[in-house]
Amino acid sequence: MSGDYGFDRVEEAASAVAGRCGRADAAIVLGSGLGGVAQALSEPVEMPYAAIPNWPAPGVAGHSGRLSVGTLSGRRVAVLSGRVHAYEGVPLPAVVFAARVMARLGVSTFVCTNAAGGIAPTLAPGTIMVIDDHLNLLGASPLTGPNDERFGPRFPDMSEAYSRRLRAVADEAALARGVKLAHGVYACVPGPSYETPAEIRYLRAIGADAVGMSTVPEVIAARHLGVDVLGLSCITNMAAGLLPQPLSHDEVLETARGVGRAMSALLEGVVERL
Ligand code: HPA
Repeated sequence: MSGDYGFDRVEEAASAVAGRCGRADAAIVLGSGLGGVAQALSEPVEMPYAAIPNWPAPGVAGHSGRLSVGTLSGRRVAVLSGRVHAYEGVPLPAVVFAARVMARLGVSTFVCTNAAGGIAPTLAPGTIMVIDDHLNLLGASPLTGPNDERFGPRFPDMSEAYSRRLRAVADEAALARGVKLAHGVYACVPGPSYETPAEIRYLRAIGADAVGMSTVPEVIAARHLGVDVLGLSCITNMAAGLLPQPLSHDEVLETARGVGRAMSALLEGVVERL
């Protein structure tokens, strides 16, 4: 199965992107409702995902499915609006295809943003959380199966999945731009149903501060390729059972859109300091 999204397929996509858009220093993946951040790029060259060879198509409302390469804070940056998720039923090598293409395009920094539910009581909706570490609760890894050494080693180290240096850069940029940041551990669950209150109590007990359905596979693939990662969660809602009301994707999108401006300012500040 991974053959469909294996090394040669990744290379083919990376050279198509390089041919049309050129190289980039950093890549930013935009989570649900954060698509507006792409507008901060100047003189972007755009490619719909459908125009990139072998690229899996995302299918969720709020994800538009487009790669834009342009200038942000004086650097070449690739912005990915939309991603595929494991809950869509695609294999994990498809989920991490974009991260691998970005790495082969030459990016040395991979910024992963997402929408997440806040579990820690301090994480109110609208907060941006720097991901300090993660819990992979997918029950699977994108690296399962024969290892292709051209991507990386069989047993990649994950003791600093989220670069200490980039986390400090995010703090500096936030301070300079007047954006308030929190820090915490992100748990990745398969979804697509939101969690039950009992699952949220369990996640809290095992050390999760926020919960979502993305990012972790891409981060594993990026680290496998030796790319430094910054993870930013937009806390869009309080996790299930913390408030006497149901969760909805509309609430997630609405909160994320409200945070878009602060997220853009933060990302500009981060890129400026790379
Ligand atoms: N749970 C899982 N994924 C999410 C949530 C949540 O509460 N909010 C946004 N993505």
